[in-house]
Amino acid sequence: MSDRWWENSVIYEIFPRSFKDSNGDGIGDIQGIILKLDYIRDLGVDAIWLCPIYKSPNDDSGYDISDYYSIWNELGTMEDFHRLVAELKKRDIKLIMDLVVNHSSDEHEWFIESKKSKDNPYRDYYIWKTGKNGKKPNNWLATKVGGSAWEYDEGTDEYYLHIYSKKQPDFNWENPRVRQSIYDIMKFWIDKGVDGFRMDVINKIAKEDGLPDVKRKVGDTREYLPAEQYFQNHPKVHKYLKEMNKEVLSKYEGIMALGQTQGLTPEDAYLYTGEERNEINMFLQFEHVELDKKGNRKLDFDLVEFKRIINKWQIALDGKLWNTIFFGSHDLSRSVSHFGNDKKYRIQSAKMLATILLTLKGTPIVYFGDEIGMTNVRFSDIDDYRDIRTSNIYKERVLEGKEDIKRVMEDIWEISRDNARTPMQWDLSKNSGFTNGEPWIKVNENYKEINVYNNLIDENSIYNYYKKMIRLRKNNDVLRKGEFKLLLEKDEYVFSYIREWNNKKVLIIASFSDEEIKVNLDLEALNDFNNCQLLISNYENKYEDISDINLRPYEVRVYSLNN
Ligand code: GLC
Ligand code: CA
Repeated sequence: MSDRWWENSVIYEIFPRSFKDSNGDGIGDIQGIILKLDYIRDLGVDAIWLCPIYKSPNDDSGYDISDYYSIWNELGTMEDFHRLVAELKKRDIKLIMDLVVNHSSDEHEWFIESKKSKDNPYRDYYIWKTGKNGKKPNNWLATKVGGSAWEYDEGTDEYYLHIYSKKQPDFNWENPRVRQSIYDIMKFWIDKGVDGFRMDVINKIAKEDGLPDVKRKVGDTREYLPAEQYFQNHPKVHKYLKEMNKEVLSKYEGIMALGQTQGLTPEDAYLYTGEERNEINMFLQFEHVELDKKGNRKLDFDLVEFKRIINKWQIALDGKLWNTIFFGSHDLSRSVSHFGNDKKYRIQSAKMLATILLTLKGTPIVYFGDEIGMTNVRFSDIDDYRDIRTSNIYKERVLEGKEDIKRVMEDIWEISRDNARTPMQWDLSKNSGFTNGEPWIKVNENYKEINVYNNLIDENSIYNYYKKMIRLRKNNDVLRKGEFKLLLEKDEYVFSYIREWNNKKVLIIASFSDEEIKVNLDLEALNDFNNCQLLISNYENKYEDISDINLRPYEVRVYSLNN
């Protein structure tokens, strides 16, 4: 395997609180993950990415860390962590830890010190400013949480910056001591055996000098304005990442850094991940999963636009940089509900999405539960939701905005992050076999139908399809390395493309329709079309002929051409 192991890997993302509870307190934990490692290995993935497992007051599900050197007691102990590392090594599975260093929790010791006085040695670990004429230091909006990005502290009569919730104060990356402290944290975990980091909102760590006000457009009456232009992909971020690379990553063999980098162009992506840039290795871009969302509202999904975005990013990869591919995560809704049909064609569309995920260029990330086709959840009572962003949508739109509850709940059912955070559905027993206790968030009611147990005993299940697809990708250079070429760009229902490597071609044809549709491939462009072999499909297919194709609902076929 090459040095850059991640380029040949499939990653499995786990939201630990929802995976498997081993001790009956209703919260998934590290021992629970250990219990399920054989299941994960059998799927065929190479690495797991764990959402944060550090000590946290849980304002934002662990993305608010109060101690980077200890394990969240709800999830286990350091001893459990060591066991996890050992058990993963035994199975040859790599471990990627989430690293949240744009901000800490306000309950972190550094912040508690920082708040004590203006001359405290930790004061400059965070970003403090005096108010402007008795008002906030500037008009920045707190991302996704609403309200001002500044919180007043009476003790020292200053405000601190938090681009997320007020319990997530931003670090001051200008301070070399802060940067050093972060590098120390990374080394600590590398020494414990982790193989890489998923770096939370890493493209937001550098803020514009002077923290200027966002210019208000005429007629805009909002008090606080989105300020990404001043802290997202700021040029200074590259200085920090180069230093991080030099101080940490370059000192070890094979440690991978995956940056969460919203709102970037392929040119920006190159600046972060180009090999000779010496910054990080891979990035997460969100355009294709956010195209049907505006703020807190769900819009219609447009396949042509989706293909345009995928195409843009796939082409950008050719020879220049490396990307990840994902359709779901702990921040998104369930992929089969989002892009497929989670009712009548749930099984077909989940398999179709698995096929695309695993035949595009880049490192695929499978979000736990997608491999059994878990779906969005619809809690009728807002109190059943746990996610801070979901309660904020409710607060903003229903309580303050006086919008119709039904309308808002419909959006929440589509976009709430809790859709992806309900417990893993293991079997048909109470609480889906996730816990013997009371789960911290309700289990999706459909668990008696959708669960791992049913998937394992059925040869044609979504799980077994994922397994086959992962194996197919592993054994196929074209699928891992090949160039990407989009076909049928304007077709509203068909997603079709070719991957090509060393004169070998693979053709993928997928339907995003609930109905049977005819595919009009340009066969001239596909020379050698009469010499093709079906590699995999989510339907029974007898004929290896692509000159006349009718696709059934959500049907997908993968052909190897001129082999
Ligand atoms: C990232 C995480 C998300 C978290 C936010 C703030 O977007 O994926 O879950 O809320 O950062 O840390
Ligand atoms: Ca537990």
